[in-house]
Amino acid sequence: MQEESVITNYRLDDDQVMDNTIRPESIREYVGQEDVKENIRIFVEAAKMRNEPLDHVLLYGPPGLGKTTLAFIIAHELGTNIKTASGPSIEKSGDLAAILSSLEPGDVLFIDEIHRMPRYIEEILYPAMEDFSLDIIVGSEGNSRNIKIDLPPFTLVGATTRAGDLSAPLRDRFGIVSKLQYYTVEELTLIVKRTAKVLGVEIEDDAAVELAKRSRGTPRIANRLFKRVRDFALVKGDGVVNLEITKEALERLQVDDLGLDRTDHELLLAVIEKFNGGPVGVEALSSSIGEEVTTIEDVYEPYLLQTGLLKRTSRGRIATDKAYQVLGIEKK
Ligand SMILES: Nc1ncnc2c1ncn2[C@@H]1O[C@H](COP(=O)(O)OP(=O)(O)OP(=O)(O)O)[C@@H](O)[C@H]1O
Ligand SMILES: [Mg+2]
Repeated sequence: MQEESVITNYRLDDDQVMDNTIRPESIREYVGQEDVKENIRIFVEAAKMRNEPLDHVLLYGPPGLGKTTLAFIIAHELGTNIKTASGPSIEKSGDLAAILSSLEPGDVLFIDEIHRMPRYIEEILYPAMEDFSLDIIVGSEGNSRNIKIDLPPFTLVGATTRAGDLSAPLRDRFGIVSKLQYYTVEELTLIVKRTAKVLGVEIEDDAAVELAKRSRGTPRIANRLFKRVRDFALVKGDGVVNLEITKEALERLQVDDLGLDRTDHELLLAVIEKFNGGPVGVEALSSSIGEEVTTIEDVYEPYLLQTGLLKRTSRGRIATDKAYQVLGIEKK
């Protein structure tokens, strides 16, 4: 029963339930990330030809770019089952041992937030990944012995928003390491249109492009905004998502032309006004805007860096000229 509690330690909110309906199931439906997809296609095919499990895969990148989706797609393409667990929920070595010994040959074991797995759990994973064996200690103190249990060959798929937090020995045991990139407007437009189709909602082309532009390069945000705009279209219009309704809804949701939300604005404003444009350390920023350091680093900063509004220097973060322009503030 312990195994159950580890494996299903998720609470689904509304968006996640929707996530599951609109999540692409095959690699063909998965938009963008062409390099990653191509690699996975080749490695999956080779593994099948050799009749061996796929090498372990590490997927990393900012939240909402499709890591979990891709893990499920890998299992789908391999034609195997997937078992899921999340790093912080594996607390005892017995938890991991239970999951590992429940695997069938060729299965995918997906560990989300793998950087948050305790170090002593990681150590159990090393021989499991390398030789498909489990070394465990049985018996009580003074009378304990090591036993080795053979595991079926399996593929570990790990996902993380912070590859840098993974220990080197763990990272080195992944044969395939893929970084997911922010999506282009064209790709996000396709994703929005696909979601609309799956949910049976009509959306006009220019409205889909507008949503795509304002989604911070992130499919999860594109889908979430689409859902809100759809509600708006239903109540205020005739249910069809058009450009006018989209713009109005996004304004209400306080998402600006670049897709920046209120927290992005607060963050940039803090750098500019409270810290004279920077450089400022992330801890100071964190207490200034009341967001966790990890949230700033994993969620907000990557996109602000990518769009050239923020720069990271050895002395801290600085606001770029573009940030001043976007916020309409004159540089002193
Ligand atoms: N390439 C894609 N094509 C179409 N839809 C996608 C794609 N990637 C992600 N999505 C959609 O975005 C949603 C979020 O993706 P997913 O949950 O896989 O992100 P994640 O990288 O695992 O995020 P987190 O780091 O928060 O766990 C999915 O439900 C899916 O519908
Ligand atoms: Mg995920």
